[in-house]
Amino acid sequence: MEKAASEGGIYMNIVYHERGRVFHLFNDSVSYIFMVLPHGGLGSLYYGKALRDREGFEHIFERVHRGMTACVFADTRSYSLDAIRQELPTYGSSDFRRPALNVLQENGSRILDLQYAGYRVMDGKPKLAGLPATYAEAETEAKTLIVEVQDALTGLRAELLYTIFATGGALARSVRYINDGTEVLHLQKVMSMSMDLPDADYDWLQLTGAWTRERHIEIRPLTTGITAIGSRRGHSSGQYNPFAALLRRGTTETRGEVLAMSLVYSGNFEMLAEVDNHGTTRLQAGIHSTDFDWKLVPGAQFQTPEAVLVWSDDGLNGMSQTYHRLYQSRLVRGQWREKVRPILINNWEATYFDFTEEKLLTIADKAAECGIELFVLDDGWFGARTSDYAGLGDWTVNRDRLPNGIDGLAEKIEARGMKFGIWVELEMVNEDSNLYRAHPDWVLSVPGRRKSLGRSQCVLDFSRKDVVDNIYGQMEAILASGKVSYVKWDMNRSITECWSHALPADRQGEVFHRYILGLYDLYERLTTKFPHVLFESCASGGNRFDPGMLYYAPQTWASDNSDAVERQKIQYGTSICYPVSSMGSHVSVVPNHQVNRMTPLHTRANTAYFGTFGYELDLNKLTAEEIAEVKEQVAFMKKYRAILQFGTFYRLQSPFEGNVTVWMSVSADQKTAIVGWYRTLNRVNYRFERVKLAGLLPDALYENSLSGARCYGDELMNYGLITTDGTAGEPNAENGLTTDFESRIYVLKAVE
Ligand code: GLA
Repeated sequence: MEKAASEGGIYMNIVYHERGRVFHLFNDSVSYIFMVLPHGGLGSLYYGKALRDREGFEHIFERVHRGMTACVFADTRSYSLDAIRQELPTYGSSDFRRPALNVLQENGSRILDLQYAGYRVMDGKPKLAGLPATYAEAETEAKTLIVEVQDALTGLRAELLYTIFATGGALARSVRYINDGTEVLHLQKVMSMSMDLPDADYDWLQLTGAWTRERHIEIRPLTTGITAIGSRRGHSSGQYNPFAALLRRGTTETRGEVLAMSLVYSGNFEMLAEVDNHGTTRLQAGIHSTDFDWKLVPGAQFQTPEAVLVWSDDGLNGMSQTYHRLYQSRLVRGQWREKVRPILINNWEATYFDFTEEKLLTIADKAAECGIELFVLDDGWFGARTSDYAGLGDWTVNRDRLPNGIDGLAEKIEARGMKFGIWVELEMVNEDSNLYRAHPDWVLSVPGRRKSLGRSQCVLDFSRKDVVDNIYGQMEAILASGKVSYVKWDMNRSITECWSHALPADRQGEVFHRYILGLYDLYERLTTKFPHVLFESCASGGNRFDPGMLYYAPQTWASDNSDAVERQKIQYGTSICYPVSSMGSHVSVVPNHQVNRMTPLHTRANTAYFGTFGYELDLNKLTAEEIAEVKEQVAFMKKYRAILQFGTFYRLQSPFEGNVTVWMSVSADQKTAIVGWYRTLNRVNYRFERVKLAGLLPDALYENSLSGARCYGDELMNYGLITTDGTAGEPNAENGLTTDFESRIYVLKAVE
């Protein structure tokens, strides 16, 4: 018998118990337990708080007789797969729920019998061929269990990968399929992970929205039947983020049990919870099976994307913090991983397509004066790109607009003390471009059929290596001089008529996934060749804000909606899975260009501080007072961005539930906390208000930067921070709060 709690230090293990053929993966936080079932398949047993290890857990396995079903063995009526919890279920052999795997065989059958064939355990975590994934830097950071199952008739072999990390409640899963047989197989559904839970007493949380309204939190109870989200748009989408969580009823930000899944993938995906008629829940995540058909010839392999599960009983914040830590430190890679992000100015909302070098330099002058560190030239600098009807695909500078080229402009920006960055949209082409004129067959389209355009552009066929090579070559030429230190990589339309001119008919079902593999390959080559460049991904704002992108680009433009009030919702929702350091956030002009709202300049900054931070407006149009304020904001961000971006982030009050939003970031030593408080509509003669903080040292005395009051951490976390406002409706020197869309930043510093 082994205890599952450590006496200090790191404690993690993967144990196989021969007697009941049970696998137990555990660390200080969680246990994940499954077994080889009597018929040879794999059965789900447990995922939750760490259990002490023991000689086996097979006694948890339950089998009962259910009428009107079908059974595996002739000598018992209590062994129907429909009533057995499994790790890799298939359809057609007595399990009538959603399968994790669907394989069309040469005889037209899809029946499989995957039998346990062995296991191995390795220290650390293997790379997934061609795909982004979490990683371990030292072998002691993680352990990986690889369990093999095989179908004797076809020779199809599956290796299920389970990685447990030394700390935290995360578990990474994926599956590798190998055709060890002699017939051609068609993988038509390949979930990255499937598991069955013993009950269904959960609410389902998803991040839902649309363009300019991404990742709003929606919660609904699980009921019998299927609760599902997904994308078939060719990108992970702003409609449904590849994330979902099950919440025990009554779970709050700070309390309750949460089981979440996040897919490290940027293309079509599906996630579901199927509650069966006996109250168990099947959870699945993986590539969307619509239009998916992967031809697996003898000897070939297929690797699914990775699903990262997190279990926590510290409420939603506990779950989120596990994702933040893991994704920030072991998904994001490269030089920018732990670096504070440069404060940038982007010209898009300032000029749109209407700019000259001279105009850009006037903005740059003001930006440099304010202490801004990076100038980003958005869309319109290349080819015939003077509007969004032309030019995509031709990644050479437009000399009419920029007579000194990219390098010439970059030198002028550098002379002003700032770094220089550019916008690109590498996966797209306009019909009005040299690239399209030369290679009309390089776009996804079906011969003889109309091709749908999106923003007047076509999607390049990134399933083709020659296409990706061409774009790589064009980008390499731009980045080679080393003058560009930041790239905003955009993607502005969904994929339609997904058909490749380079693949045979029986491989067209591979195009959506091959496109993503091509995209990842291009990212891999560019980030490897130009490691100093900071990449920010974007897809009309946050339409591809997913862990797959974060592996290559440490930050993502969270939304084209730059209004502060809208952003509070978007950033609050995004933080459910993604760290503050990953959220591109800018201060823009008022009236706001998306919602026409007037918000105070400080509220726009107070919101954008909880992100990578930058400006997206023409600073020359601000008053002298506003410029002075911008200078203070930039100085504030420089002073506190390490805590804002990399501290422990807590959501405290939700914009989806009321008029006031509160969140905070706490330094690693817990001695400094920055609280963001945002009130949407003003109120008159309102009630007393306070908010309970989190993550402080109970015994430390904190000084409040706004009131000067000193309170101990235990007071702030239990009585709360007093935030009362809106006394009598007239301007009030003490509260100073007279408008809608008000906000405050409290800096709390331990003074003893
Ligand atoms: C997308 C992006 C914007 C901007 C424009 C340029 O909409 O999300 O931020 O870069 O493209 O065309």
